[in-house]
Amino acid sequence: MRVAADEFVLAAARRQGVALPSLCEQGWCCTCAVQLLSGSVDQSASRRFYPEDRDAGFALICTGRPRSDLRLRTHALAAMRAHRDASGLPVPRGPTLPPA
Ligand code: FES
Repeated sequence: MRVAADEFVLAAARRQGVALPSLCEQGWCCTCAVQLLSGSVDQSASRRFYPEDRDAGFALICTGRPRSDLRLRTHALAAMRAHRDASGLPVPRGPTLPPA
């Protein structure tokens, strides 16, 4: 999948016909969470993204712009919630999506 440097990863996915989970699309709810297998993402547009999230290998693709080639695993909401719980960070508890 191709993502422009100034484009959010989720928007690029949609543009290319890839449907992925999302809800707030403001970098807050974690519904769009992915696990980064390689590469880096600029999360400066996200409303709530912590250094601990980055250190744990998560990204929020609704408000994440690529800063390199990326390999990622989608549908990581449950894993990111578990990480936030374990780290003592806020965990949005909005609607849950069915498993992928
Ligand atoms: S859709 Fe809510 S954080 Fe991305």
